[in-house]
Amino acid sequence: MKQRIKTMVTSLALAGATVSCMKSGNPVEHTGVTGAITKLLGGDTSQTKVQYVPDMADAPTMKPQENFIEPPEGSVSNNAILYPKTVEEAEANLKNPLQNDPQVVALGEKMFNTYCIPCHGAAAKGDGSITDVYPKPPDITSAAYQARGDGFFFYRITFGANIMPGYGHATAPHERWAIVHYLRKLQGVSK
Ligand code: HEC
Repeated sequence: MKQRIKTMVTSLALAGATVSCMKSGNPVEHTGVTGAITKLLGGDTSQTKVQYVPDMADAPTMKPQENFIEPPEGSVSNNAILYPKTVEEAEANLKNPLQNDPQVVALGEKMFNTYCIPCHGAAAKGDGSITDVYPKPPDITSAAYQARGDGFFFYRITFGANIMPGYGHATAPHERWAIVHYLRKLQGVSK
């Protein structure tokens, strides 16, 4: 028994090392022991990690030799995405840049079923599988939500709402706009 455990640990370590070496530079690839276990279980190691409240994982860090000088006021990073400051502003000004076509809706469905389904449920009625322990979200297909603008949903998905965490860190803007199209489909409205 002891020998079997030893062999298992060794092969896990070896597999971990192999997967680390095969790293393709993709920052979301599972590597090391996690990658090895995923692989052994027949999983796809290149899948995006699903993070829940990743405050510490995404904390800004200072690299050696880095100069910690405050940027001039009003300056923005050249890869910054500029968002409206409030949900009202987002709802009034943002338009969904994506066409409502089947490919976009399919992407939205995939993203919704990855990030939203545990709480909101498959039909977005607020009956996701974790809602017996986590507070139940509202039915976002109701008439009140059908009347909201696309920018409202985009902003909520990006930054969250009260106790709902935001998913801006985990999704690209076009993926969030695709979710909005998919939500419209669930709501039964075409906008
Ligand atoms: C961890 C559970 C959870 C996840 C995951 C989650 N939500 Fe929510 N969501 C909630 C809860 C709870 C509320 C109610 C928040 C409140 O008002 O306190 C909510 C509210 C909302 C609202 C209404 C906000 C408002 O201002 O009325 C929208 C729209 C929404 N969620 C969309 C989404 C979408 C789209 C996703 C996936 C990208 C998502 N949510 C993922 C729990 C979740």
